[in-house]
Amino acid sequence: MNLTAVKGMRDLLPADTIWFQRLEDAARSVFALYNFDELRTPIVEPAELFSRAVGEDTDIVGKEMYTFPDPPDDPNGTRLTLRPEATASTVRAYVEHRMWERPGLTRLYYMGPMFRRERPQKGRYRQFYQIGAEVLGGDGAWIDFELLAMLRMLLERCGIEGAELVLNSVGCALDRPVYHAALRAALADKLPHMCADCQRRAQTNPLRVLDCKVPADQPIIAALPTIHDFLEENCRNHFALLRQLLDAHDMPYRLDPRLVRGLDYYTSTAFEFLHGALGAQNALLGGGRYNGLAQSLGAPASAGGGIGFALGEDRFVLAMQAASAARQAPSKSPLMALLLPISQAELGPALELAERLRRAGVRLDLAPPGRKLGKSLELAAKLGAAAAVIVGTDEAATREWQVKNLATGLQSKVADGELAAHLQALGN
Ligand code: HAM
Repeated sequence: MNLTAVKGMRDLLPADTIWFQRLEDAARSVFALYNFDELRTPIVEPAELFSRAVGEDTDIVGKEMYTFPDPPDDPNGTRLTLRPEATASTVRAYVEHRMWERPGLTRLYYMGPMFRRERPQKGRYRQFYQIGAEVLGGDGAWIDFELLAMLRMLLERCGIEGAELVLNSVGCALDRPVYHAALRAALADKLPHMCADCQRRAQTNPLRVLDCKVPADQPIIAALPTIHDFLEENCRNHFALLRQLLDAHDMPYRLDPRLVRGLDYYTSTAFEFLHGALGAQNALLGGGRYNGLAQSLGAPASAGGGIGFALGEDRFVLAMQAASAARQAPSKSPLMALLLPISQAELGPALELAERLRRAGVRLDLAPPGRKLGKSLELAAKLGAAAAVIVGTDEAATREWQVKNLATGLQSKVADGELAAHLQALGN
Protein backbone atom coordinates (compact mmCIF):
# COMPACT_ATOMS: atom_id res chain seq x y z
CA MET A 1 0.00 0.00 0.00
CA ASN A 2 1.30 3.47 -0.89
CA LEU A 3 1.05 5.79 2.06
CA THR A 4 0.08 9.31 1.09
CA ALA A 5 -1.13 12.40 2.93
CA VAL A 6 -4.68 12.22 4.33
CA LYS A 7 -7.47 13.48 2.03
CA GLY A 8 -7.82 17.26 2.25
CA MET A 9 -4.48 17.59 4.06
CA ARG A 10 -1.40 18.43 2.04
CA ASP A 11 2.32 18.84 2.30
CA LEU A 12 3.53 22.38 1.94
CA LEU A 13 6.74 22.01 -0.05
CA PRO A 14 9.57 24.58 -0.09
CA ALA A 15 8.05 26.26 -3.16
CA ASP A 16 4.89 26.80 -1.05
CA THR A 17 6.44 27.58 2.33
CA ILE A 18 8.46 30.43 0.86
CA TRP A 19 5.11 32.19 0.16
CA PHE A 20 3.71 31.31 3.57
CA GLN A 21 6.85 32.72 5.21
CA ARG A 22 6.57 35.91 3.22
CA LEU A 23 2.94 36.32 4.32
CA GLU A 24 3.77 35.50 7.94
CA ASP A 25 6.69 37.97 7.97
CA ALA A 26 4.45 40.71 6.53
CA ALA A 27 1.72 39.92 9.09
CA ARG A 28 4.18 40.00 12.02
CA SER A 29 5.58 43.36 10.98
CA VAL A 30 2.13 44.91 10.44
CA PHE A 31 0.80 43.47 13.73
CA ALA A 32 3.79 44.98 15.58
CA LEU A 33 2.86 48.45 14.26
CA TYR A 34 -0.61 48.02 15.77
CA ASN A 35 0.76 46.72 19.10
CA PHE A 36 -0.39 43.08 18.84
CA ASP A 37 1.38 40.30 20.77
CA GLU A 38 1.53 36.65 19.77
CA LEU A 39 -0.56 33.99 21.52
CA ARG A 40 -0.01 30.25 21.03
CA THR A 41 -2.81 28.02 22.27
CA PRO A 42 -3.00 24.21 22.12
CA ILE A 43 -4.15 22.58 18.87
CA VAL A 44 -6.52 20.41 20.95
CA GLU A 45 -9.26 21.87 23.16
CA PRO A 46 -12.31 20.42 24.93
CA ALA A 47 -15.07 19.89 22.33
CA GLU A 48 -17.40 21.81 24.61
CA LEU A 49 -15.42 25.03 24.06
CA PHE A 50 -16.41 25.04 20.38
CA SER A 51 -19.98 23.86 20.88
CA ARG A 52 -20.49 26.70 23.37
CA ALA A 53 -18.57 29.45 21.54
CA VAL A 54 -19.04 28.62 17.84
CA GLY A 55 -22.52 27.15 18.36
CA GLU A 56 -24.22 23.74 18.09
CA ASP A 57 -26.20 24.79 15.01
CA THR A 58 -23.22 25.74 12.88
CA ASP A 59 -21.80 23.53 10.12
CA ILE A 60 -18.44 23.63 11.89
CA VAL A 61 -19.69 22.13 15.16
CA GLY A 62 -22.49 20.04 13.64
CA LYS A 63 -20.54 18.36 10.82
CA GLU A 64 -16.91 19.31 10.55
CA MET A 65 -15.03 18.80 13.79
CA TYR A 66 -12.46 16.07 14.43
CA THR A 67 -13.46 14.96 17.92
CA PHE A 68 -12.27 11.97 19.92
CA PRO A 69 -12.62 10.69 23.49
CA ASP A 70 -9.67 10.98 25.86
CA PRO A 71 -8.65 8.40 27.06
CA PRO A 72 -9.24 6.84 23.61
CA ASP A 73 -10.84 3.61 24.82
CA ASP A 74 -13.29 5.38 27.13
CA PRO A 75 -16.44 6.56 25.32
CA ASN A 76 -17.33 8.52 28.47
CA GLY A 77 -13.92 10.25 28.54
CA THR A 78 -13.48 13.97 27.92
CA ARG A 79 -14.26 14.77 24.31
CA LEU A 80 -11.35 16.60 22.71
CA THR A 81 -11.37 18.43 19.37
CA LEU A 82 -8.70 19.48 16.88
CA ARG A 83 -9.36 23.22 16.78
CA PRO A 84 -11.49 24.27 13.79
CA GLU A 85 -10.71 27.95 14.48
CA ALA A 86 -8.87 29.91 17.16
CA THR A 87 -11.16 32.70 18.38
CA ALA A 88 -12.73 30.36 20.95
CA SER A 89 -9.26 29.29 22.15
CA THR A 90 -8.06 32.90 22.32
CA VAL A 91 -11.06 33.99 24.36
CA ARG A 92 -10.69 30.92 26.59
CA ALA A 93 -7.05 31.90 27.24
CA TYR A 94 -8.08 35.55 27.81
CA VAL A 95 -10.55 34.41 30.46
CA GLU A 96 -8.33 31.70 31.98
CA HIS A 97 -5.42 34.12 32.47
CA ARG A 98 -7.60 37.07 33.53
CA MET A 99 -5.96 39.18 30.83
CA TRP A 100 -8.55 41.96 31.16
CA GLU A 101 -6.82 42.92 34.44
CA ARG A 102 -3.81 44.12 32.43
CA PRO A 103 -3.62 47.77 31.34
CA GLY A 104 -5.20 48.76 28.03
CA LEU A 105 -6.86 46.63 25.40
CA THR A 106 -5.59 43.09 24.87
CA ARG A 107 -4.40 42.68 21.29
CA LEU A 108 -3.37 39.15 20.35
CA TYR A 109 -2.49 37.40 17.12
CA TYR A 110 -1.96 33.75 16.25
CA MET A 111 -0.82 31.65 13.30
CA GLY A 112 -1.23 27.95 12.75
CA PRO A 113 -3.17 24.98 11.43
CA MET A 114 -6.95 24.55 11.85
CA PHE A 115 -8.99 21.43 11.09
CA ARG A 116 -12.43 21.12 9.50
CA ARG A 117 -13.85 18.02 7.86
CA GLU A 118 -15.10 19.91 4.78
CA ARG A 119 -15.35 18.66 1.21
CA PRO A 120 -11.88 19.42 -0.20
CA GLN A 121 -11.51 21.59 -3.30
CA LYS A 122 -9.22 24.35 -4.51
CA GLY A 123 -8.70 26.74 -1.60
CA ARG A 124 -10.57 24.47 0.81
CA TYR A 125 -8.68 21.91 2.86
CA ARG A 126 -9.30 19.79 5.94
CA GLN A 127 -6.08 21.06 7.46
CA PHE A 128 -5.62 24.69 6.55
CA TYR A 129 -3.67 27.57 8.00
CA GLN A 130 -4.96 30.74 9.55
CA ILE A 131 -3.42 33.97 10.72
CA GLY A 132 -5.81 35.73 13.05
CA ALA A 133 -5.90 38.67 15.42
CA GLU A 134 -8.30 39.54 18.22
CA VAL A 135 -8.79 42.77 20.20
CA LEU A 136 -10.37 42.14 23.59
CA GLY A 137 -11.53 44.44 26.37
CA GLY A 138 -13.40 47.14 24.43
CA ASP A 139 -16.31 47.73 22.09
CA GLY A 140 -15.77 51.13 20.43
CA ALA A 141 -16.40 51.42 16.68
CA TRP A 142 -12.89 52.93 16.36
CA ILE A 143 -11.48 49.50 17.37
CA ASP A 144 -13.38 47.87 14.49
CA PHE A 145 -12.09 50.57 12.16
CA GLU A 146 -8.46 50.06 13.24
CA LEU A 147 -8.71 46.31 12.70
CA LEU A 148 -9.98 46.88 9.15
CA ALA A 149 -7.29 49.52 8.54
CA MET A 150 -4.67 47.01 9.70
CA LEU A 151 -6.04 44.51 7.17
CA ARG A 152 -5.83 47.12 4.44
CA MET A 153 -2.15 47.62 5.28
CA LEU A 154 -1.51 43.86 5.27
CA LEU A 155 -3.18 43.46 1.87
CA GLU A 156 -1.05 46.32 0.52
CA ARG A 157 2.16 44.84 1.91
CA CYS A 158 1.32 41.51 0.29
CA GLY A 159 0.70 43.19 -3.06
CA ILE A 160 -2.94 42.03 -3.16
CA GLU A 161 -5.16 44.38 -5.12
CA GLY A 162 -8.87 44.19 -5.77
CA ALA A 163 -9.96 42.54 -2.50
CA GLU A 164 -13.51 43.60 -1.71
CA LEU A 165 -14.59 44.40 1.86
CA VAL A 166 -18.12 43.14 2.53
CA LEU A 167 -19.70 44.50 5.70
CA ASN A 168 -22.77 43.93 7.83
CA SER A 169 -24.12 44.33 11.32
CA VAL A 170 -25.67 41.13 12.67
CA GLY A 171 -27.27 42.83 15.66
CA CYS A 172 -26.84 42.14 19.33
CA ALA A 173 -28.44 40.41 22.30
CA LEU A 174 -31.12 43.13 22.55
CA ASP A 175 -32.40 43.10 18.98
CA ARG A 176 -31.81 39.42 18.17
CA PRO A 177 -35.03 38.07 19.80
CA VAL A 178 -37.18 40.56 17.87
CA TYR A 179 -35.41 39.74 14.60
CA HIS A 180 -35.65 36.01 15.26
CA ALA A 181 -39.40 36.37 15.78
CA ALA A 182 -39.69 38.29 12.50
CA LEU A 183 -37.68 35.62 10.65
CA ARG A 184 -39.80 32.81 12.09
CA ALA A 185 -42.97 34.61 11.06
CA ALA A 186 -41.66 35.22 7.53
CA LEU A 187 -40.50 31.60 7.22
CA ALA A 188 -43.63 29.97 8.65
CA ASP A 189 -45.28 28.94 5.36
CA LYS A 190 -41.99 28.56 3.38
CA LEU A 191 -40.25 26.06 5.63
CA PRO A 192 -41.83 22.88 4.21
CA HIS A 193 -40.13 23.77 0.88
CA MET A 194 -36.71 24.36 2.42
CA CYS A 195 -33.78 22.06 3.26
CA ALA A 196 -33.70 20.01 6.48
CA ASP A 197 -31.01 22.27 8.02
CA CYS A 198 -33.16 25.37 7.45
CA GLN A 199 -36.20 23.64 8.94
CA ARG A 200 -34.24 22.78 12.07
CA ARG A 201 -32.46 26.13 12.29
CA ALA A 202 -35.70 28.10 11.93
CA GLN A 203 -36.59 26.65 15.34
CA THR A 204 -33.20 26.68 17.07
CA ASN A 205 -31.45 29.74 15.57
CA PRO A 206 -33.27 31.43 12.66
CA LEU A 207 -30.32 33.75 11.86
CA ARG A 208 -28.43 30.64 10.66
CA VAL A 209 -31.03 30.20 7.88
CA LEU A 210 -29.37 33.19 6.18
CA ASP A 211 -26.14 31.16 6.03
CA CYS A 212 -27.77 28.32 4.03
CA LYS A 213 -25.90 27.53 0.80
CA VAL A 214 -28.56 25.29 -0.81
CA PRO A 215 -29.34 26.92 -4.22
CA ALA A 216 -33.08 26.12 -4.14
CA ASP A 217 -33.47 27.98 -0.83
CA GLN A 218 -31.83 31.20 -2.01
CA PRO A 219 -34.94 32.97 -3.49
CA ILE A 220 -36.76 32.45 -0.18
CA ILE A 221 -33.77 33.71 1.80
CA ALA A 222 -33.38 36.77 -0.44
CA ALA A 223 -36.95 37.83 0.42
CA LEU A 224 -36.55 37.58 4.22
CA PRO A 225 -36.53 40.75 6.35
CA THR A 226 -33.05 42.10 7.12
CA ILE A 227 -31.61 42.73 10.56
CA HIS A 228 -31.12 46.41 9.68
CA ASP A 229 -34.78 47.15 10.32
CA PHE A 230 -34.43 45.73 13.82
CA LEU A 231 -31.12 47.08 15.14
CA GLU A 232 -31.49 48.69 18.56
CA GLU A 233 -30.03 52.15 19.12
CA ASN A 234 -26.52 51.30 20.38
CA CYS A 235 -25.98 48.72 17.70
CA ARG A 236 -27.26 51.09 14.99
CA ASN A 237 -25.02 53.92 16.22
CA HIS A 238 -21.99 51.63 16.41
CA PHE A 239 -22.47 50.57 12.81
CA ALA A 240 -23.12 54.13 11.61
CA LEU A 241 -19.93 55.35 13.29
CA LEU A 242 -17.87 52.53 11.81
CA ARG A 243 -19.19 53.38 8.34
CA GLN A 244 -18.36 57.07 8.85
CA LEU A 245 -14.80 56.17 9.85
CA LEU A 246 -14.37 53.90 6.82
CA ASP A 247 -15.65 56.66 4.52
CA ALA A 248 -13.43 59.27 6.16
CA HIS A 249 -10.40 57.05 5.63
CA ASP A 250 -11.24 56.21 2.06
CA MET A 251 -11.92 52.53 2.68
CA PRO A 252 -14.62 51.35 0.28
CA TYR A 253 -16.94 48.48 1.24
CA ARG A 254 -20.09 46.76 0.06
CA LEU A 255 -22.96 46.48 2.50
CA ASP A 256 -24.46 42.96 2.52
CA PRO A 257 -27.40 42.60 4.92
CA ARG A 258 -27.33 38.78 4.37
CA LEU A 259 -23.76 38.36 5.57
CA VAL A 260 -24.12 36.45 8.85
CA ARG A 261 -20.92 34.32 8.79
CA GLY A 262 -20.78 30.68 9.81
CA LEU A 263 -20.15 31.09 13.54
CA ASP A 264 -22.69 31.96 16.23
CA TYR A 265 -20.59 34.22 18.45
CA TYR A 266 -20.89 37.33 16.29
CA THR A 267 -22.66 40.48 17.47
CA SER A 268 -22.87 43.79 15.56
CA THR A 269 -19.98 44.12 13.05
CA ALA A 270 -19.35 41.21 10.67
CA PHE A 271 -17.11 41.37 7.61
CA GLU A 272 -15.30 39.41 4.94
CA PHE A 273 -12.72 40.28 2.30
CA LEU A 274 -13.48 38.55 -1.01
CA HIS A 275 -11.11 38.12 -3.93
CA GLY A 276 -11.85 37.33 -7.55
CA ALA A 277 -8.71 35.23 -8.13
CA LEU A 278 -9.93 32.50 -5.75
CA GLY A 279 -12.83 30.92 -7.62
CA ALA A 280 -15.62 29.36 -5.54
CA GLN A 281 -13.77 29.69 -2.22
CA ASN A 282 -13.47 33.45 -2.58
CA ALA A 283 -13.29 34.51 1.10
CA LEU A 284 -9.74 35.63 1.79
CA LEU A 285 -10.61 36.32 5.39
CA GLY A 286 -13.52 36.85 7.72
CA GLY A 287 -14.23 38.25 11.12
CA GLY A 288 -16.39 40.36 13.34
CA ARG A 289 -17.30 41.49 16.79
CA TYR A 290 -18.28 39.03 19.54
CA ASN A 291 -19.37 41.06 22.57
CA GLY A 292 -20.41 38.72 25.40
CA LEU A 293 -18.29 35.72 24.35
CA ALA A 294 -15.74 36.18 27.17
CA GLN A 295 -18.62 36.53 29.64
CA SER A 296 -20.25 33.34 28.34
CA LEU A 297 -16.95 31.58 29.10
CA GLY A 298 -16.89 32.86 32.68
CA ALA A 299 -15.41 36.40 32.58
CA PRO A 300 -17.01 39.33 34.42
CA ALA A 301 -18.67 42.20 32.53
CA SER A 302 -15.47 44.26 33.02
CA ALA A 303 -13.64 41.87 30.62
CA GLY A 304 -15.41 43.84 27.84
CA GLY A 305 -16.20 42.93 24.25
CA GLY A 306 -14.04 41.63 21.43
CA ILE A 307 -13.48 41.76 17.70
CA GLY A 308 -11.14 39.87 15.42
CA PHE A 309 -10.52 38.26 12.07
CA ALA A 310 -8.81 35.22 10.63
CA LEU A 311 -7.35 34.99 7.15
CA GLY A 312 -6.90 31.72 5.30
CA GLU A 313 -3.19 31.57 4.53
CA ASP A 314 -3.75 28.97 1.78
CA ARG A 315 -6.10 31.40 0.00
CA PHE A 316 -4.07 34.51 0.76
CA VAL A 317 -1.06 32.88 -0.86
CA LEU A 318 -3.10 32.11 -4.01
CA ALA A 319 -4.06 35.80 -4.20
CA MET A 320 -0.44 36.85 -3.64
CA GLN A 321 0.68 34.52 -6.42
CA ALA A 322 -1.97 35.90 -8.77
CA ALA A 323 -0.88 39.45 -7.90
CA SER A 324 2.81 38.78 -8.33
CA ALA A 325 2.58 37.04 -11.73
CA ALA A 326 3.72 40.30 -13.28
CA ARG A 327 5.98 41.20 -10.36
CA GLN A 328 8.75 39.49 -8.46
CA ALA A 329 7.88 36.13 -6.86
CA PRO A 330 9.72 35.59 -3.60
CA SER A 331 12.87 33.56 -3.89
CA LYS A 332 15.20 32.02 -1.39
CA SER A 333 18.49 33.83 -0.64
CA PRO A 334 20.96 32.12 -2.99
CA LEU A 335 23.80 29.97 -1.74
CA MET A 336 27.07 31.89 -1.46
CA ALA A 337 29.18 28.77 -1.84
CA LEU A 338 29.29 25.02 -2.31
CA LEU A 339 32.31 23.33 -0.68
CA LEU A 340 33.76 20.46 -2.72
CA PRO A 341 35.78 17.93 -0.65
CA ILE A 342 37.86 16.15 -3.28
CA SER A 343 37.96 12.82 -1.40
CA GLN A 344 36.79 11.27 1.88
CA ALA A 345 40.09 12.40 3.44
CA GLU A 346 39.10 16.06 2.99
CA LEU A 347 35.64 15.65 4.52
CA GLY A 348 36.96 16.50 8.02
CA PRO A 349 38.69 19.76 6.97
CA ALA A 350 35.67 20.65 4.78
CA LEU A 351 33.25 20.24 7.69
CA GLU A 352 35.49 22.34 9.92
CA LEU A 353 35.75 25.07 7.26
CA ALA A 354 31.98 24.97 6.67
CA GLU A 355 31.24 25.57 10.37
CA ARG A 356 33.69 28.50 10.54
CA LEU A 357 32.31 30.13 7.39
CA ARG A 358 28.68 29.79 8.52
CA ARG A 359 29.56 31.46 11.82
CA ALA A 360 30.94 34.33 9.74
CA GLY A 361 27.58 34.57 7.93
CA VAL A 362 28.24 32.58 4.73
CA ARG A 363 25.23 30.61 3.38
CA LEU A 364 26.74 27.41 2.07
CA ASP A 365 26.24 23.71 1.43
CA LEU A 366 28.59 20.77 0.86
CA ALA A 367 28.88 18.47 -2.14
CA PRO A 368 29.19 14.76 -1.28
CA PRO A 369 32.95 14.00 -0.96
CA GLY A 370 34.93 12.06 -3.56
CA ARG A 371 32.82 12.92 -6.63
CA LYS A 372 34.39 13.92 -9.95
CA LEU A 373 35.21 17.66 -9.82
CA GLY A 374 33.22 18.31 -13.01
CA LYS A 375 30.09 16.69 -11.49
CA SER A 376 30.43 18.73 -8.28
CA LEU A 377 30.82 21.96 -10.27
CA GLU A 378 27.67 21.06 -12.20
CA LEU A 379 25.87 20.55 -8.89
CA ALA A 380 27.12 23.96 -7.66
CA ALA A 381 25.68 25.61 -10.78
CA LYS A 382 22.35 23.77 -10.44
CA LEU A 383 22.04 24.84 -6.80
CA GLY A 384 22.64 28.43 -7.87
CA ALA A 385 25.78 28.86 -5.73
CA ALA A 386 27.83 31.99 -6.41
CA ALA A 387 31.12 30.15 -5.87
CA ALA A 388 32.64 26.69 -5.43
CA VAL A 389 35.41 26.18 -2.87
CA ILE A 390 37.68 23.25 -3.69
CA VAL A 391 38.89 21.41 -0.60
CA GLY A 392 41.80 19.17 -1.72
CA THR A 393 44.84 17.85 0.15
CA ASP A 394 47.01 20.91 -0.60
CA GLU A 395 44.30 23.40 0.29
CA ALA A 396 43.56 21.60 3.56
CA ALA A 397 47.29 21.65 4.43
CA THR A 398 48.12 25.24 3.39
CA ARG A 399 44.69 26.74 4.15
CA GLU A 400 44.83 28.62 0.91
CA TRP A 401 41.58 27.91 -0.85
CA GLN A 402 40.80 27.54 -4.54
CA VAL A 403 37.63 29.54 -5.19
CA LYS A 404 35.80 29.31 -8.51
CA ASN A 405 33.51 32.23 -9.30
CA LEU A 406 30.63 30.45 -10.99
CA ALA A 407 29.36 33.57 -12.73
CA THR A 408 32.66 34.32 -14.54
CA GLY A 409 34.29 30.86 -14.44
CA LEU A 410 37.47 32.48 -13.02
CA GLN A 411 39.37 30.60 -10.34
CA SER A 412 41.57 32.28 -7.71
CA LYS A 413 43.49 31.41 -4.55
CA VAL A 414 42.09 33.03 -1.41
CA ALA A 415 43.84 33.18 2.00
CA ASP A 416 42.01 31.60 4.91
CA GLY A 417 41.43 34.91 6.73
CA GLU A 418 39.86 36.52 3.67
CA LEU A 419 37.66 33.65 2.54
CA ALA A 420 34.42 34.57 4.37
CA ALA A 421 34.47 38.19 3.14
CA HIS A 422 35.39 37.04 -0.38
CA LEU A 423 32.46 34.60 -0.57
CA GLN A 424 30.03 37.15 0.87
CA ALA A 425 31.10 39.70 -1.72
CA LEU A 426 30.48 37.17 -4.51
CA GLY A 427 27.15 35.97 -3.09
CA ASN A 428 25.48 39.29 -2.28
P1 HAM B 1 -13.95 31.68 9.19
O1 HAM B 1 -14.70 32.55 8.24
O2 HAM B 1 -14.54 30.38 9.54
O3 HAM B 1 -13.72 32.54 10.50
O4 HAM B 1 -12.49 31.42 8.62
C1 HAM B 1 -11.65 32.51 8.29
C2 HAM B 1 -10.94 32.26 7.01
O5 HAM B 1 -10.23 31.01 7.08
C3 HAM B 1 -11.83 32.11 5.79
O6 HAM B 1 -12.20 33.37 5.25
C4 HAM B 1 -10.93 31.33 4.83
O7 HAM B 1 -10.02 32.21 4.19
C5 HAM B 1 -10.16 30.43 5.78
N1 HAM B 1 -10.73 29.09 5.78
C6 HAM B 1 -11.81 28.65 6.47
N2 HAM B 1 -12.04 27.34 6.22
C7 HAM B 1 -11.08 26.94 5.35
C8 HAM B 1 -10.76 25.70 4.70
N3 HAM B 1 -11.45 24.59 4.92
N4 HAM B 1 -9.69 25.67 3.85
C9 HAM B 1 -8.95 26.80 3.63
N5 HAM B 1 -9.21 27.98 4.22
C10 HAM B 1 -10.26 28.06 5.07
C11 HAM B 1 -13.06 32.10 11.59
O8 HAM B 1 -12.37 31.11 11.64
C12 HAM B 1 -13.14 33.07 12.75
N6 HAM B 1 -12.41 32.50 13.88
C13 HAM B 1 -12.60 34.43 12.37
C14 HAM B 1 -12.66 35.41 13.49
C15 HAM B 1 -11.64 35.78 14.28
N7 HAM B 1 -13.75 36.05 13.88
C16 HAM B 1 -13.43 36.80 14.91
N8 HAM B 1 -12.16 36.64 15.18
